[in-house]
Amino acid sequence: MVNNINTRCDLMLFGALGDLAQRKLFPALYQLDRAGLLAEGSRVLAIARTEADTPTVRKQLFDRLKHHVKDAEFDADVANSFLERVDYQLLDFNDPDGYEALKAWRDTPANELIVYMATPPSMYGVIARNLKAASCCNEKTRVVVEKPIGHDLESSKVINDELGAVYNENQLFRIDHYLGKETVQNLIALRFANNLFASQWDQNHISHVEITVAECVGIEGRWGYFDQAGQIRDMVQNHLLQLLCLIAMDPPADLSADSIRDEKVKVLKALKQITPDIMDRYVVRGQYTAGTSDGKPVPGYLEEEGANKGSDTETFVALKAEIENWRWSGVPFYIRTGKRLPEKLSQIIIHFKPAPHYIFDPDQKHLANNKLIIRLQPDEGMSLKILTKDQGLDKGMRLRQGPLELTFSETFETDRIPDAYERLLWEVMKGNQYLFVRRDEVEYAWRWVDQVIRNWKDSGEPPKRYAAGTWGPVASIAMITRDGRSWYEDA
Ligand code: BG6
Repeated sequence: MVNNINTRCDLMLFGALGDLAQRKLFPALYQLDRAGLLAEGSRVLAIARTEADTPTVRKQLFDRLKHHVKDAEFDADVANSFLERVDYQLLDFNDPDGYEALKAWRDTPANELIVYMATPPSMYGVIARNLKAASCCNEKTRVVVEKPIGHDLESSKVINDELGAVYNENQLFRIDHYLGKETVQNLIALRFANNLFASQWDQNHISHVEITVAECVGIEGRWGYFDQAGQIRDMVQNHLLQLLCLIAMDPPADLSADSIRDEKVKVLKALKQITPDIMDRYVVRGQYTAGTSDGKPVPGYLEEEGANKGSDTETFVALKAEIENWRWSGVPFYIRTGKRLPEKLSQIIIHFKPAPHYIFDPDQKHLANNKLIIRLQPDEGMSLKILTKDQGLDKGMRLRQGPLELTFSETFETDRIPDAYERLLWEVMKGNQYLFVRRDEVEYAWRWVDQVIRNWKDSGEPPKRYAAGTWGPVASIAMITRDGRSWYEDA
């Protein structure tokens, strides 16, 4: 494992003028440079199909940085000196001859070469082959690819095979940006550095787990992509299942990439199949109709710009996942995610079982289980709900639930929490794969998600409607209430 912060890198960024690169990747590189983490001599080759020259692209990138970086964090001198590292290369990704120009740019082979494909996945194979044919990469090159890796198990195998024909698995960095979020990494510290939790983390002590990833945005300009994917492919197959794995996995032997990924794969393999006979109790899919967001009226999914009015694509999914192993037998993981929900919120709630014998006021029995709330965004932190006696002579032994609170920004006085892409790019530069997804993880996740999608198709049932600005179809509340529980906000 390379762990040298002074590593000089040459980053070839394919799709450099696209939305992801401009919104996330260049701002992340700028922040790394601002923090002094880009080694002297590190360079970026921005590659795209648009006719332009380096000065024009630098100017455009400067404007985009100014737009996407917070005012307080934007420094024009730092931006200009960062952009000195950036060159532009026009390239038709399909044209093998064009790659000679990339080879010419790479005149300092001592720099670690990183290839970042911020392109549609259908281009990964052709870029990989052309880079190899032009001798633009070798067995040390690190290759970063974005999701989605395919739209089902079969298509993901094709993409992984194409990449695998040129690169070894230890060269491939498959991004799931949730793994770069500070609080997501903290799940590993929380679970395995605190015996208090480690010793309670199983079916003897936990009754159920909730994972919510809610967004208030709709589909906006991404209708074409999103309608082919839907919320289950866009969010569940990757981000939600990764969160579930980090919560559910057994302790890895060490922090190496493969030890962690081996444990995550075991969880994915143990996920109970959701067969057609249990679909209506285990899965709810929804699609938003017109409603409000942030107090303003917003259109429904089918009225968004470019929409196909007959689309049955889901913008909301709630699922009950069960893990068939010793640690989690009988502990449901309720997961839900959707667009146009009332707020942007990602959180995990661990519901502990009540104490074995309850001796307090019977009317307060519903309070008698501890909850650990892990806030991934916004306001990153954790809160442990514990029971104490209410204050005052007149209160007797009345119970009260209060939080033990840890808000990262306050407790650790951090002025800023780095964006996920900063962390991920930084780890690629160091050559650490532990925050990236291995081929078998992608494939087991698809295997599980595919069966749900197949069942939906076979049933022919349309998604249930929910008004924008609400917490999804009422059926998702019914799904959890049927088990005698409620989503945390509803409690
Ligand atoms: C992306 C999805 O992977 O994650 C988007 O494609 C979604 O649809 C986004 O909006 C959410 O990421 P975050 O970091 O804003 O929660």
